[in-house]
Order: sequence, then C-alpha cells, then structure tokens
Amino acid sequence: MTDRSPMDWEQRFRDETTPWERPGLHPAFKAWRDAGDFDSVDRIIVPGCGRAPELKAFAALDKSAIGADLSATALACQQQQLDAADLTADLIEADILLWRPDTPLDGVYEQTFLCAIPPKLREEYEAAVHAWLKPGGKLFALFMQKAEMGGPPYGCSIPAMRELFPVERWDWPEGDYTPYPHPSLNGKPELAVILTRR
Ligand SMILES: C[S@@+](CC[C@H](N)C(=O)[O-])C[C@H]1O[C@@H](n2cnc3c(N)ncnc32)[C@H](O)[C@@H]1O
Repeated sequence: MTDRSPMDWEQRFRDETTPWERPGLHPAFKAWRDAGDFDSVDRIIVPGCGRAPELKAFAALDKSAIGADLSATALACQQQQLDAADLTADLIEADILLWRPDTPLDGVYEQTFLCAIPPKLREEYEAAVHAWLKPGGKLFALFMQKAEMGGPPYGCSIPAMRELFPVERWDWPEGDYTPYPHPSLNGKPELAVILTRR
C-alpha cells in the first residue's frame, strides 16, 4: 500500500474479496461490441484490469490488447485465462498512471478503475489517458454513480466527469447515457459513455 494506492489490491485478490467483479462480460462491453463501436480500434488498454474478462474478450476480437494492474495475482489470472483460450495480450504490472506507450493507442477501456483510485489522482488519470490515446482515440468509460462520500468506489458523477474531461480536450456524445446497475455494490449504476480524444 502507498498513498497512491491506499487499498491493498493484491491482498484483496488473494483473499477473494472482490465485490466489484461481475459474473461475466460487462453488458456495456457486449452492447459496444455488437454495435461495432470497437471496429475502429486495434491497440487498446484496460487499465486496472484486475481479473475482468474483457481483456481476453478484446484479444478474442483480434485486438492488440494491453492489460495493466498493480496486482501480480490478478495478472497471473489474466495470463491463465489467455493461455486457456490460446490468446495473447500484453500484461503490464505497474502503477499504470506513470506509464506511457511508445506509440499512441486507439482505445482505453475504463471499468471500475477510475472509481477505485484516490480522487486526488483523477487529474493524473485524465492526463495519462489523454497521453495514451492518439487524436480521435476512444475512451470507453463506465462511470460509477454513487452519491455517498468516500470509497472506493468513489462516485464519478457526470458533472464531475465533464469537469475532469473538458470539451477542449474531449468530445462528449449528446444525449442520455445508458445506466448499467452493478450486480453487487448495492446495484449502483455505471453510465456508459464513449469519449473521443481531441
Ligand atoms: C475495483 S478493481 C477493478 C478491476 C477490474 N477493472 C474489474 O472490473 O473487475 C481496481 C483495479 O485497479 C487496480 N489498480 C489500482 N490502482 C492502480 C494503479 N495505479 N495502476 C494499476 N492498477 C491499479 C487494482 O489492483 C484493481 O485490480
């Protein structure tokens, strides 16, 4: 644990205390996939991927996928899932906010990572995601909606996200965003939004 990561994520995976995990693919992932929203994306990163199955699903779609996490146990699980399916992805064990790619990426898949990091790191998160993506690159975001103070998960209200991802740097889609209640975490909804890096 550090002040950048006050939660001992590695221990949570070792203890199997992982209430944020969904039983299968996130329904928003399936909706985006089925709508062709990933078609223009080749190289994509899942920051704070944990053991979530979307990393393997991107590899299965023939994407050049990168999974990143602080937890060696979670990444070992990802490697096992990939090996079992005869798929490949790059795995990075690091504080991913400090990482930069050699060449810009097409996509970032955000699922319960932004809501998991200390809020004081949010501006660093925005700067990192902006630096990872090429102009026109996509941030596939699931913004956790939670009114109560404290966390993790920390709430990611749309007004707060509009401030964090300003229109000078990000294109926001018009309209209402589809809510996906979380099966645990007291059914808190995540709002699905695709932001385009300017
Ligand atoms: C709430 S979990 C979500 C995991 C996964 N996205 C999912 O939906 O199941 C947050 C994850 O972010 C990872 N994490 C937290 N801070 C990190 C950082 N600075 N760099 C990389 N990973 C981090 C944790 O180890 C943990 O796996």
